[in-house]
Amino acid sequence: MPPELPPRRARNDLRQYDDLADRWWDPDGPFSSLHWLARARARLIPVATTPDARLLDVGCGGGLLAPHVTGYHHVGVDLSDAGLAVAADHGVDAVRADAADLPFDDASFDVVVAGEILEHVSDLDGTVAEALRVLRPGGTFVCDTINATAFARLSLVTIGERVRGGPPPACHDPALFVPPARLQELCAAGGVDLHVHGLRPAAAQFVAFLLRRRSSVEMVRTRSLAAVYQGVGVKRGPA
Ligand SMILES: C[S@@+](CC[C@H](N)C(=O)[O-])C[C@H]1O[C@@H](n2cnc3c(N)ncnc32)[C@H](O)[C@@H]1O
Repeated sequence: MPPELPPRRARNDLRQYDDLADRWWDPDGPFSSLHWLARARARLIPVATTPDARLLDVGCGGGLLAPHVTGYHHVGVDLSDAGLAVAADHGVDAVRADAADLPFDDASFDVVVAGEILEHVSDLDGTVAEALRVLRPGGTFVCDTINATAFARLSLVTIGERVRGGPPPACHDPALFVPPARLQELCAAGGVDLHVHGLRPAAAQFVAFLLRRRSSVEMVRTRSLAAVYQGVGVKRGPA
């Protein structure tokens, strides 16, 4: 019997993350590029300066950031119970919560990370406001998301969903993609001047990946913000 296919879902139906929960840690599975992005994201996380430092991973999924987080108590929130169970198996303190309504005190985290979630939420303003509410003054906000451009739609949806290493089919709703200027405006309102730069797969490595000659690809910086981009900033106020 061939393996059962997951049900067809509407674009950005979050039940996809439950359907695919057993694939989170498959480096050649539907989330392979999230492994590459987690490594790139971790490069922006500052070294923990106190023994009780806390990092919040908003939309933690299966906890792919976990191997790259050292020195922090790593808390993850998500709406996918199956994803949270996988994240917990990888050492994440996994909490079921909506990113736009976090069950944490103000200023209770030293670092807040939002990796590849902002382009999935219906309440972007509320999600950014909550992430920055729970971040302490002097703490660091790290995020990566997808710009609202025709190039992003072509490369990550029209083509991307059909190639090895691309997002799973129907993963994204391009209507939710996030213009960097809008994200910077929301972050400024929450006390963070967000510095942004583009990210792309290292070209030669990506070709080798497509040819099945390697299993992983490094994400490198690019000046273009046209598709995936990262943001990082420190919250204003006394540390
Ligand atoms: C593309 S995955 C990224 C997962 C993880 N950050 C990573 O990069 O491996 C998006 C995740 O965000 C979660 N998510 C989407 N909307 C959410 C919301 N409103 N509150 C909490 N989690 C949400 C999904 O369940 C999914 O696990």
